[in-house]
Amino acid sequence: MTTGTHVQPLVHAVNVTKRFGDNKVLKGIDLDVREGEVVCLLGPSGSGKTTFLRCINQLESINGGRIWVDGDLMGYEDRGGTLHHLPDRKIADQRREIGMVFQRFNLFPHMTALENVAEAPVHVKGVGKKQARDEARTLLERVGLGDRCDHYPAQLSGGQQQRVAIARALAMHPKLMLFDEPTSALDPELVGEVLDVMRELAQGGMTMIVVTHEIAFARDVADRVVFMDAGVVVEQGEPREIIARPQHERTRTFLRRILAEQDESPTREPDAPNLTKG
Ligand SMILES: Nc1ncnc2c1ncn2[C@@H]1O[C@H](COP(=O)(O)OP(=O)(O)O)[C@@H](O)[C@H]1O
Ligand SMILES: [Mg+2]
Repeated sequence: MTTGTHVQPLVHAVNVTKRFGDNKVLKGIDLDVREGEVVCLLGPSGSGKTTFLRCINQLESINGGRIWVDGDLMGYEDRGGTLHHLPDRKIADQRREIGMVFQRFNLFPHMTALENVAEAPVHVKGVGKKQARDEARTLLERVGLGDRCDHYPAQLSGGQQQRVAIARALAMHPKLMLFDEPTSALDPELVGEVLDVMRELAQGGMTMIVVTHEIAFARDVADRVVFMDAGVVVEQGEPREIIARPQHERTRTFLRRILAEQDESPTREPDAPNLTKG
């Protein structure tokens, strides 16, 4: 498949299938993401978006197909055409290269923001404590929380906690960042600050797959929008094109509903960019 002129995508997913019991959740997903590309994954609840992200970083094992990240076959070793499960230790190595930010922030409540960010580099990567703390401080500054290093999660707003969670993922120097509805648990007035951090990350060249219902973010920041429904990719393409002129009825229905909801949502913080209206 690879030729001299062919640049391998950072994420190369081919015919990925996943079921839970009899429930076929992913029915053959193909997706390539180039290095530095930002892909927004849209689709109704239950369409398999979370499951797909979890398969990419091996929180779920797949039933069929293949996923490569930066040339590594995720979760398996291909020995002469037969796939063998990698041992947990190897899977942990692969997973470490991928940052994931969830809807809920999952910070350690008994650790400060700085300790939350420095924890994995020290305990998983063996980075020295001083270096890890210095890097954590720089990362917290980058997400606008340089003055909150010593705060505990309970002392931070949801938006601030989610920014700590992003800094924590970045501390591992991931090749790829996966975001699973990172703003959907936030009060509306806190959404903008998290999207701003993600936008900067995107502009800095991070490869990102973002599951979101924030259509304006998808339109303005994504290089490509992928619309999923019922375990398949229904359509994908240039964000403005897909959002303005979806080709499939399922996409049209979904976008109509989401945009109607977002038009009704309370207005955002006055100084935050208005991300919901076009
Ligand atoms: N761990 C699990 N066990 C059983 N079923 C699951 C599990 N995770 C997800 N599902 C099912 O998979 C389908 C897709 O879920 P999900 O990937 O969370 O969709 P989305 O993120 O698009 O809302 C749903 O029917 C859900 O009930
Ligand atoms: Mg989900």
